[in-house]
This record gives sequence, structure tokens and C-alpha cells, in this order.
Amino acid sequence: MEFTIKSGNPEKQRTACVVVGVFDNRKLSLAAERIDRAAKGYISDIIRRGDMEGRLGSTLLLYNVPNTLADRVLLVGLGRERDFRDREYYTAVRNAVKFLNETGAYEAVIYLTEEKVRRRDIGWRIEHTVIAACGATYRFDHLKTESSDVRRPLRKLTLSVPMRSDLLIGETMLARGIAVGEGVELARDLGNLPGNLCTPAYLAEMAHKLASMYPGEIKTRVLERKEIEELKMGAFLAVTQGSETPPRFIVMEYKRPGVKKKPLVLVGKGITFDSGGISLKPPADMDQMKFDMSGAASVLGVFRTIAELKPDLHVVGLIPACENMPSGRAVKPGDIITSMSGQTIEVLNPDAEGRMILADALTYAERYEPEAVVDVATLTGAIVVALGHVACGVFGNHEGLMRALVAAGDDAADRAWAMPLWDDYHEALKSNFADVANVGGRPAGSITAACFLSRFAKKYPWAHLDISGVAYREGKEKGATGRPVPLLVDWLLSQENRDG
Ligand code: BES
Ligand code: MN
Ligand code: ZN
Repeated sequence: MEFTIKSGNPEKQRTACVVVGVFDNRKLSLAAERIDRAAKGYISDIIRRGDMEGRLGSTLLLYNVPNTLADRVLLVGLGRERDFRDREYYTAVRNAVKFLNETGAYEAVIYLTEEKVRRRDIGWRIEHTVIAACGATYRFDHLKTESSDVRRPLRKLTLSVPMRSDLLIGETMLARGIAVGEGVELARDLGNLPGNLCTPAYLAEMAHKLASMYPGEIKTRVLERKEIEELKMGAFLAVTQGSETPPRFIVMEYKRPGVKKKPLVLVGKGITFDSGGISLKPPADMDQMKFDMSGAASVLGVFRTIAELKPDLHVVGLIPACENMPSGRAVKPGDIITSMSGQTIEVLNPDAEGRMILADALTYAERYEPEAVVDVATLTGAIVVALGHVACGVFGNHEGLMRALVAAGDDAADRAWAMPLWDDYHEALKSNFADVANVGGRPAGSITAACFLSRFAKKYPWAHLDISGVAYREGKEKGATGRPVPLLVDWLLSQENRDG
């Protein structure tokens, strides 16, 4: 979809559709009010008759509204005015765009951007209108033989800003929204692709493709089994050893010329299918374990976004990618392996594979002498119990870094919540036979998993995002969400002006 911005009166727009908001209790938005005045009470009449009550996300399409130049006016319910916040804003935009996509209108001018949203300025509203619109029209149906193409899809959306002086910041945030939207789309596409198609080699190909799309910005290097063995990544190798599909260790580097800052490193869990290995998962919903590379997908998505926006940063992306499968060669409960760090691990449960591949990737990250390392992983089911599908969990060894990530999540409407990582929890990982066990039992499962990772992340400020609850939706709407691409991009861009 194409996006532009402009400033002007709603009744004077020559367009297929003007989109304006209506609060409940018959309260018109500013733009709706203007149209109502031009149309001599046409809109307030409709509302008085009860055809549009302003319920959040509801829609009513009007044709030939008197004294307006648009073919159509779409009323969108905004709910109670005092409850209108970022979440409500998203719902309103998403529903409006979904509705427009099903009408005959190829293009529209949206005025919801002019509504006040608590703590969010015009720049935020522009950026997030674009992100919400991209999300609302996203489809993944190219693996169905009969395409369910929308006949007249929305092709162009114009975002209105209240004042001409908003146009400058508007353009910047429009570009940012488009870039984030594309990163989210890439992450969703990769997440939705099944394990037989989205293999470690496929993820590596995508990393190479990004490098060739943005030759000045991104460099990609892919390590295969032999090099992974030479690096002595024993934990990663233990996970992949049961699978017929070869592993990859993907290294991406984004750097603007002249940038001397120490790198920020993103590490993404790239398990392209998690069967549980010898500790096989139950069959119900096992298909969802194709989403176990969502961390990797978000790192690739972020690289796409920053290559578009070209911030003055140095960012490294590391993706250990493999399958977790049972076989005669698979790692067995009780096996003891030596990680790249030299620490020995007793593999009490082969289904706790994410922390094993991340352990070696975190050790590999040391060579960059990073400013900070953030790993992103669908690491535990326990984080879904703790935080549901609302926020991802933030763990780490550095308060400032964790605070910055939580703030980025808030700003990007892609929420994250800090979890504790007290020494007391390390107790659970004691092994009688090795330096550390790979599981800590049922209590505080997401915390003991993060404790395990922390043992491999001692040399730099580090944070871990457990995204099992937010990376994909279940049920009728099953599919990847692209989270936490918006959070990560927000955080990275906030680091652009840091010292050093
Ligand atoms: N990929 C899973 C975590 C997961 C579970 C993500 C459910 C999304 C939904 C991870 O590899 C795993 O299997 N974790 C185990 C750890 C346990 C064996 C300590 C879990 O959470 O059950
Ligand atoms: Mn697992
Ligand atoms: Zn897993």
C-alpha cells in the first residue's frame, strides 16, 4: 500500500473516501464535526437515529454526504473519549482499514490521525497509523491454490495532519512507519512459513537476500556445520544432531560508514521446528512449533527496517538455526555436553533446546565487545502463564538496558515487562554431574531459563526477551504477529544518539 500525508479540511477532499471518528455519547470528532457542519447536520442526524453509536471499532459507510467532495464518508467508532489511548487508536485504525479494503474505494484520506491520543503526539499517530494499516491488510495465502484476493483492495492511504507545520515531522514518521511495517511483514512471513519450507538454509538465504538488497548497509556471513564444529559450539551441535536438516549459524552486520560506536548485538532463536526431541512434545498444537524461529524472524525483520532507515548505528545479528528432532542420533536426557564457553551442560530435557543454542550464540557475541546484547526467543511456555499474550518478558543483567527495552515497548505499543533474575533462582539449575543443568523444574520456568542464559552473558550488558506469548496468535486467527520488531526498532533508534 502507498502512504502519503497532507493537511486540509475533510469536507474539501476529492477522494473515494474520507475516514472520520465518532466517540460514544454522540460526540463527534473534530473532523466529523466539520463534515457535519458543511452537511447541515447530516451526520448528527444519523447518530441521533442510533445507526452509529460510536462503539470502538464499529463502522458505518455513507454515500453522497451533502456539500462534501468525497464519494464516501466512513464513520469509525472510537469508544469513550476519555478512554481513547494507543490500544484503542490501533483498534480504530485497523478496523477502518480492514473495512476500506472490502469496499470499492482504492484510496482514502484518514482523519483519525488528528485525534488526541494520550501521551502520543502527531508523529506517533502517523507512524502507528501506517503500522496498523500494514498489519490490517496483511495476508498469507500464497500456499493456497485458490487465492482469496480482495477484488478492489485499498491501494493508497493519505494521512491528514492538523497543521501544515506538522508535515515535516509527519514525513519522517511516515517513512519510519513504512519501514517498521515492512520489517513486521517479513517477520510474519517467515514465522508463518512451515518448517519444511522455512529451514535453517532458507533463513540463511533470506539473510543473504537482505545483504544483496542493501549492499551498502548489510553484510551477511553464514557458517555451516564444519565451521560450527571448529568453533566448538557443543550446545548448538547437541540440539541439531538428531535432525537430518543441516544447521546454519547466520551472522549479519549493519554499519553506517564512519560510525565508531561499539555494536549492539541482536541474537534470535532460530529453531525452525521444535518437536521436543527425545522428550517429544504432545501432538496437540505441535504444529505451532514452526513458530519457534520467531526470534530469528524478528532479527531479520529488524535488519530490513534499519537498512531502510539508515540510522547511525552498528548492529550485529546472530541467528543459530536448526531443528530439534528425535532420532537414533539425537541428544538423550542425561547426556553431558561441553558448550563453546567451556561450561559443561547436563541435558536433562532435550526440549529445553532454545537456551542451548542461545548459550553458544551468546558466547560467540563476545568477539564484538558489544555495547549491549539482546536475545529474542520463544524460550518458554512458562512466560505465557506469567504474562499471557499481552507483553513479552524482559530479563537481564543491566538495569538501564532493561529499562530502555521496557520503555521502547511502551512507546511502540509492543509491550514488554521486566522480570526478576535474582541469584536465588540459580539453585534450581544445579547438576550433580555437570556445571549446570539445562532445566530447573516447573517453578518460575521462564526465570530459570533466563538464569541459564545469564551464565553465558557475563561479559557485557545483556537482556533477554522471552516472546513465546506474543510472537504468534493461536486459534482462528492463528499466525505470526511480527512482534517484537516494533519494540526492537524503537530501542535501536533510541540508541542512535547515545555517546561513545
Ligand atoms: N519452544 C519452546 C517454548 C514454547 C512453548 C514456546 C510453548 C511457545 C509455546 C521451548 O523450546 C520449550 O520447549 N520449552 C520448554 C522448557 C521446559 C522443557 C523446561 C517449556 O516451556 O515447556
Ligand atoms: Mn523445546
Ligand atoms: Zn523451542
